[in-house]
Amino acid sequence: MKVTKAEFIISAVGPDQYPDDALPEIALAGRSNVGKSSLINRMINRKNLARTSSTPGKTQHLNYYRINDAIYFVDFPGYGYAKVSKSQRQVWGAMIEKYLMEREPLKLVLLVIDLRHPPSKDDELMYDWLKHYDLPVCVVATKADKIPKSRWQKHMKIIKDALVMRPQDSFVMFSSEEGIGKDELWNQIMQHTGE
Ligand code: GTP
Ligand code: MG
Repeated sequence: MKVTKAEFIISAVGPDQYPDDALPEIALAGRSNVGKSSLINRMINRKNLARTSSTPGKTQHLNYYRINDAIYFVDFPGYGYAKVSKSQRQVWGAMIEKYLMEREPLKLVLLVIDLRHPPSKDDELMYDWLKHYDLPVCVVATKADKIPKSRWQKHMKIIKDALVMRPQDSFVMFSSEEGIGKDELWNQIMQHTGE
């Protein structure tokens, strides 16, 4: 997809604030600091539209970005960040759960994982949960630039096995730093949104 327009729409704290124009939504879930916001920026060729930071736990709401007036990226708060208080975590958890269960325009969840490491317990729980609710998932293994290409296949297998990936879910090797996997990921997104 050729991105000609990309806008930040809203940092939403609940359903009242979600857009009501029914455009297809692509949600990004993953650990804090894994690279969700960087992935959005790479996909839309913008340096810093989605706020990135080396301080984990920065994204606290559901951040909506509208692309080409056609789809939304919905950037989730990252999970697994120890310094976030328990009550804060419960608030986020409830918001995300409700969104994933009830959000009709949601077409695909990008589960963003660090290619360098096996999935965390939280990653496994998130994927199990997405499977349970029968949501289409694309696992995006990012930071691929950080390991040699010769080791990609081995790391991919570790991730796929640990998650017990369903055959209908796709896997994309990615790097926001170098742009690896960008076209493939757009293809996956377009297959699910009909764009
Ligand atoms: P939260 O909003 O806290 O959940 O984090 P996030 O998942 O949005 O991560 P973010 O995009 O802010 O990236 C975290 C850090 O990882 C930043 O320092 C990025 O520059 C770095 N980073 C993200 N993607 C890549 C990548 O593909 N390669 C490399 N080398 N670094 C990356
Ligand atoms: Mg972020």
